[in-house]
Amino acid sequence: MASFSFSFSGDDIEDDGAIGTTQDAAGPSSSSALSVQGLQALSIQGASLVTPTSSAAPAATAFPVPHKPQLPPQCHDLQGMLSKLPSKIAFSLLDVVLDVRAESSAPIGANGGTSAAREEPCLIRLPRRELWDVKVQLMAEEEAEDDESGNAQELAPGLGEHDVKTGIYEGGFKSWESSVDLVKVLLQPPASVSTPEPALSAVAGAVLSQDGPAHVIELGCGTALPSLALFHWACATAPSAASTTPFRRSHQLSITVADYNPSVLYLVTLPNFLLTWALQQRDANPLVQQALSFEDADGSGNVSGELELTDEVKDAFCAFLTSARVTLSFLSGGWSAAFVDLLYGLSTADAGPPPHTLVLGAETIYSPFALESFSVLLLTILQRETGTSTRAMAVVGAKKLYFGVGGSLDDFVQRMREAGVVVNELREEADGVRRGVVQCLL
Ligand SMILES: C[S@@+](CC[C@H](N)C(=O)[O-])C[C@H]1O[C@@H](n2cnc3c(N)ncnc32)[C@H](O)[C@@H]1O
Repeated sequence: MASFSFSFSGDDIEDDGAIGTTQDAAGPSSSSALSVQGLQALSIQGASLVTPTSSAAPAATAFPVPHKPQLPPQCHDLQGMLSKLPSKIAFSLLDVVLDVRAESSAPIGANGGTSAAREEPCLIRLPRRELWDVKVQLMAEEEAEDDESGNAQELAPGLGEHDVKTGIYEGGFKSWESSVDLVKVLLQPPASVSTPEPALSAVAGAVLSQDGPAHVIELGCGTALPSLALFHWACATAPSAASTTPFRRSHQLSITVADYNPSVLYLVTLPNFLLTWALQQRDANPLVQQALSFEDADGSGNVSGELELTDEVKDAFCAFLTSARVTLSFLSGGWSAAFVDLLYGLSTADAGPPPHTLVLGAETIYSPFALESFSVLLLTILQRETGTSTRAMAVVGAKKLYFGVGGSLDDFVQRMREAGVVVNELREEADGVRRGVVQCLL
């Protein structure tokens, strides 16, 4: 197996010449503000696809920016993050139509379903905090800070005009196309028409339906749609759940979500988990029902809404996590050896058998630097997992080619195979920018 190690630095970037130039550090008008064809984000408002904010010729990118250290890895405490949220958050719903169930690969039994497949399209509605609501929160926080310091400050990076701002903000506030593809690979329509909730796919079931605890790690999560989809399933199948889903989980499920920017984690990732729980639980919990309101202003089906975040609602969320045997962990900072140490520091705290681990990554290989650092990180994790769980597995979604910046799914697959990883293609999407989802097994 080929060796791999964390060795990236600003100098490496300059040395290989392929990724960046010193111009990258010069300022936003040059290449540090990256807007690239092929890096298309989903509109935060709904399901429509939008092109990036600028169609200017893509420039080379460097991350980390030379002489600028990456953000150090950091673990964020759930209570601390909850305390930073405002009293109300606004959201919209993203409908993801799940692929038709492939009976041959359906994990009959994984979720307990046995009867005939449904024919109508099955969708999962995933909530996302509205970007305008994030901006409102930040403006209020900055006003309060300015009043104290007397200095006017800028909005958080990523809430301005750029999709990615190299080394500062790496795209996590928006949802990117491949994250939707990953949702479709992880969930499938229920086996039975009498069951409203989507079921785990064979791929996800191979890890999450094993006997014993499970750990989902989403790297470069941003709005975290794939983890939200699995969290939705986890809420519906919680040992205590009052839903019609026949399958009940009995083991602990840990979900670790990681993004470069701490601001992304507390402003969108955590709120999206809260919203997913609230939407899934609203029929069973009167408190949640009272806290949620919906609006379909133009009657078009584009539903938006608000969730009141009273102390009682936050307490109910935390109590549910405990009773549902779900742990949420939030990590920020650059991918590095220290990041891996922090990640494994989380799980050594838990006694009991090692978990079966599923690593997820959507749109995390969008430049040669990102591809290399993500590959090294993934290989390190897979190698640590082999020997603990039955077989370490990752599911990675990306565009076939990131025009202008380099980075492609084929390059990633080749990099993985050279390191001895078995790579299986799970899904291809030719609609719009060509994309794929692959499974990596070590
Ligand atoms: C284009 S966004 C994709 C976000 C999300 N997965 C999606 O598909 O919607 C890329 C993500 O990778 C993370 N990322 C990229 N390079 C990173 C690095 N070197 N260290 C840590 N995170 C990184 C960013 O924070 C960002 O969330």
